[in-house]
Amino acid sequence: MDQTGQKRENWGSRIGFIMAAAGSAVGLGNIWRFPYLTGMNGGGAFILIYLFFVFVIGLSIMTAEFAVGRNSGKAAVGAYKSKNKNWTFAGVIGVLSGFLIMGFYPVVGGWAIAYIVKSLTGLTAAPEAIGDTFGAFITNPVEPLAWMALFLVLNVFIVAKGVAGGIEKAGKILMPTLLTILILIAIRGMTLEGAGAGLEFLFKPDFSKVTGATFLAALGQAFFSLSLGMGCMITYGSYLNKEENLPSNAFIVTAMDTGAALLAGLAIFPALFAFGIEPTSGPGLVFVVVPSIFAAMGGIGPVLSAFFFVALTVAALTSSVSLLEVVVAYLMDERNMARKKAVYISSTIMVIMCVLASLSLGAMSGVTFLGVGAFDFFDILTDKIFLAIGGLLLCVFTGWFVNKEDLRKELTNNGTVSFGLFEIWYNLVKYVIPVAIAIVAVAGIMSITQ
Ligand code: PFF
Repeated sequence: MDQTGQKRENWGSRIGFIMAAAGSAVGLGNIWRFPYLTGMNGGGAFILIYLFFVFVIGLSIMTAEFAVGRNSGKAAVGAYKSKNKNWTFAGVIGVLSGFLIMGFYPVVGGWAIAYIVKSLTGLTAAPEAIGDTFGAFITNPVEPLAWMALFLVLNVFIVAKGVAGGIEKAGKILMPTLLTILILIAIRGMTLEGAGAGLEFLFKPDFSKVTGATFLAALGQAFFSLSLGMGCMITYGSYLNKEENLPSNAFIVTAMDTGAALLAGLAIFPALFAFGIEPTSGPGLVFVVVPSIFAAMGGIGPVLSAFFFVALTVAALTSSVSLLEVVVAYLMDERNMARKKAVYISSTIMVIMCVLASLSLGAMSGVTFLGVGAFDFFDILTDKIFLAIGGLLLCVFTGWFVNKEDLRKELTNNGTVSFGLFEIWYNLVKYVIPVAIAIVAVAGIMSITQ
């Protein structure tokens, strides 16, 4: 029971929770962002650094977020506040990050929906023409806004239905669909002529391109992709029942997220090299490469391309509902708002931010904040700064302000399941990770501003 006398909502089943948490993690971050960041940061070397950050820093932080969330039974802000009032600000930073990410994420979600339709109704065959069409589409002042609005409406619909009925159900159906489609596309891409160069780019690290900025990009991507550093996994953990094994759930979710990113890499890069598209081509990458693969196929190619964008939309949706949920859970827990009201108020603010973000790519490209348009501003601010700060704060809080024995009990379900790596995890969270994040952030920012 909470203070309002209502019983807290709970996940319906273990698999439901895993699908929802993996649904949050696997999203545009894996399929849209990971391939283009890998392309821009030199391929294999970036992937190695990324994997190291994911399994040493990301997995530890996810375990900590689950522990803090379930232990407090509260969403981001409440979880911090219930242990130490002075730490409320850390939760507030998380909610703010959720808002900022939702200021551009639905724009890309809208592109994905639009491309379901466009795949079927006329993207011509040549990769350059497909690239031009994409450029013209995202800079159009009206069309992307309509798709973005549709994407947000889907979010509102799912989140308004609540934890088990909405978020969990959507994840259980949509996640397996996504994985199946990605596997099919990866097989198709790898069997194209000239695909070998793509595999080499992915798996043969070239460390000569690595700078401080590469490390910061990999760290930011690890946080973004695993949905860490903004209380999302605290919130999802707070709906988790006491029998669940937290470290093993964290491992499964992390492994699924990483698998999906690598799969997306395999779906994109072999085909990209086969078509002679530049790996550094940036945020348009999936929207150009995937339709190109299928257009070249002829026959049912356009239908398969449409399927891919259904999957991308699905992945984006299960993630954006978790972003919206962080904000909604805050309004419900801390402001005693009813779920529906919280959903409507927060999504209205998000619409306004998304309109700014979308227009910043075209009609309003002259309006900048600190030198970049709204879309890039929301993206860079969260990924390179807020999430890393959020992760650092969570580690300091968990390591220094939560009782060690409480953590041990939470992570071993009162001693009924074993967590052999507890001491290592604890020392990582308390000492190593905060220092590592600080070093990567400073080195990265220095290398960018040089
Ligand atoms: N993890 C999501 C993705 O990879 O697309 C994005 C995201 C969701 C980030 C939820 C942060 C978050 F709390």
